[in-house]
Amino acid sequence: MAEFVRTGVEGRIGLIALDNPPVNAAGAALRAGLVAALDRLAADPAVEVIALYGEGRSFIAGADIREFGRPSAGPWLPEICNRLESCEKPVVAVLHGAALGGGLEVAIAAHARVAVAGVTLGFPEVTLGILPGAGGTQRAPRLIGVAAALDLITTGRRIGAEEALALGLVDQVTQGDPRAVALAAAGQVLAGRLPTRRTGDIHITPDPEAIEKTAEALKHSQPHLFSPHRCVEAVATAALPLPEGLAEERRLFRLCMDSPQRAGLIHAFFAERAVAKIREATATPRPVGQIGVVGAGTMGSGIATACLLAGYPVVLVEKSPEALARGSAAIARNLDGAVSRGKLRPEARAALSLDTATAAAALSGCDLVIEAVFEDMSVKQAVLSEIELACPGALIATNTSYLDLNEMAQGLDAPENFLGLHFFSPAHVMRLVEVVVAAETQPEVVATGFALARRLGKIAVRAGVCDGFIGNRIMSAYRKAADLMALDGTPIAAIDAAVRGYGFAMGPFEMGDLAGLDIGWAARKRQAATRDPAARYHGALADRLCEAGWFGRKTGRGWYDHSGDGPVPNPEIPRLLREIQAAEGITPRPLDAPDIVARYETAMIMEAARVVEEGIALRPIDVDAVFLFGYGFPRWKGGPLHQADAIGAAEICARIERHALDNPRFWQVPDILRRMARAGGRFADLNRED
Ligand code: COA
Ligand code: NAD
Repeated sequence: MAEFVRTGVEGRIGLIALDNPPVNAAGAALRAGLVAALDRLAADPAVEVIALYGEGRSFIAGADIREFGRPSAGPWLPEICNRLESCEKPVVAVLHGAALGGGLEVAIAAHARVAVAGVTLGFPEVTLGILPGAGGTQRAPRLIGVAAALDLITTGRRIGAEEALALGLVDQVTQGDPRAVALAAAGQVLAGRLPTRRTGDIHITPDPEAIEKTAEALKHSQPHLFSPHRCVEAVATAALPLPEGLAEERRLFRLCMDSPQRAGLIHAFFAERAVAKIREATATPRPVGQIGVVGAGTMGSGIATACLLAGYPVVLVEKSPEALARGSAAIARNLDGAVSRGKLRPEARAALSLDTATAAAALSGCDLVIEAVFEDMSVKQAVLSEIELACPGALIATNTSYLDLNEMAQGLDAPENFLGLHFFSPAHVMRLVEVVVAAETQPEVVATGFALARRLGKIAVRAGVCDGFIGNRIMSAYRKAADLMALDGTPIAAIDAAVRGYGFAMGPFEMGDLAGLDIGWAARKRQAATRDPAARYHGALADRLCEAGWFGRKTGRGWYDHSGDGPVPNPEIPRLLREIQAAEGITPRPLDAPDIVARYETAMIMEAARVVEEGIALRPIDVDAVFLFGYGFPRWKGGPLHQADAIGAAEICARIERHALDNPRFWQVPDILRRMARAGGRFADLNRED
């Protein structure tokens, strides 16, 4: 028998211990071991009841996600669940840690379930682009009813022991070590105090209304996704006799498995975890007690909120009492919001520690200070020096969006303590933080940035220094592509609609109106002196809007007019555009939706490839994580470079070369893509651990 599963016999009780660290994923070896263990104990005449439990952190965290899309070996989970259910001796499952996906399917194929307090249960398959394919869609409705099963299976929602008990997913909740609980539960079965039954034998009450209602709601809420709809179809077949329902579940499961969304969503699952694997991972993070935040505008107040919510005492420094009052009020609103959403208990809110000051000297007790002042090199350099003077030896971080960290660090006595922590707006909500590593940043300073992000509940991605790091640099490129399409006559509303159709929540112009067009205008003016004179200027139309005082939502008008019920395209744009086109000799050539998204996506991939080639991102999967967790890239597409692999390097090169016919300066094939196209390589091949 495989070492992943051990059996033992204690009197009349047969024990099966699952042991596949770290989370007992049900990989091929564990599956084979489980079947062998069942066979052995079923055949052992001394054994009258079998108890199944997990060693380590979990019962079973689900199927082994690494096997998906790759060849693997049987036995498969559906057979195991059927074998378990049909076992002639009663089997009780003890659930602790995580009983998710295939783990929960194994549990509900057993004859009774005892949950250890603190366990997380759920069917997260839908978040991976699949459905519970080992009987979950058939057995869960029998145990807990169609409506409750639909809820768990179509949302992937994770629940605790008490809710599972209330639903009828488990029979008891208890405390203790899983092995001891297994022995006790088996004892109760023997004593007749814990009833057992085969889930497949339970009569199911069909609920066509719940099916219809969920199917209809998902059509609107998840129009892009494939698997949630198949989940409903699978649960609908639970009204059939079990073998027929299981066969239909299997057919739908295979459809999901073969869908590109499954590959994208699983890539996203691993992206979230892969980004933590950095070369500085072995360095010891510095202890961080108190945190300072300098600048309490949009970002500073959000960053301070995030730190407070994670339990850090915060010192907030602004340049005037008025600005401080505005920032403090924004933080108070954020915290009120957290209380009203149930994320923060009122008594915990009262215990949060926020000190405010208008002089940097107040930062003297801080271990880390994050500056979020105006995006201006000389302002930032002056502020950094003040911070260093106030708390020598502390870590100092900048939240700059684009500026050069090496230049910024020039005036510091200890540039080794300096790093970038690039949060996204709103900083207490968005999950991404780019940890930007400057030339002299020490490994333990990088490790501290990652540890802080983790404690804030955020996803940290390591980035090198360049104009805009990973995310904003790539965004600048595809924004430019969008601006050029607009100048060439594609209506902005058509561009936004096509980008939404691709899966983003908003198009680039809608996003611009939300963020404020003045930010980009200031950047274009700053860059005017160093702009490549031979490159086509993309900002002409945006400049005209800003010159008219139209900065987006905050001024009531931008790319769109926001004064009425809903935004409508700014009616002045056609006139402004005609003037620019006449002056620049542009013949309008509007693009259709497929051409729009192809250009947008290709510009994104083109710059993303350069970011990898230059080592700004450690791996392609780091770029994908930045876009998934910071820029609203559709999760089911896995990220721009996962998408690039799906399209193929040769096709991307061909697209760039086609676009280069009109604008050879902008559209240039990165060497890395050309090499991949020649050799048939993929970005996935570069996703090795650092
Ligand atoms: N298959 C394969 N590997 C898995 C896995 C699974 N089902 N679940 C977790 N892992 C791996 C993670 O990739 C990670 O690997 P790494 O250390 O090489 O990065 C490791 O197990 C630990 O997982 P992590 O998420 O970092 O630990 P955690 O304690 O924060 O969370 C879980 C544990 C089980 C709650 C979480 O990993 C999880 O939700 N897993 C997915 C469960 C799931 O979707 N199951 C359904 C599959 S059909
Ligand atoms: P903001 O204008 O809203 O806030 C800046 C604040 O800094 C103001 O309240 C100002 O009074 C204060 N300030 C200026 N000089 C100061 C000084 N010497 N001492 C103390 N306070 C001072 O700007 P923001 O949008 O919060 O941006 C701040 C930084 O974060 C910038 O570097 C920006 O590029 C970056 N950033 C912004 C966003 C975003 O979406 N707004 C996202 C990521 C990063």
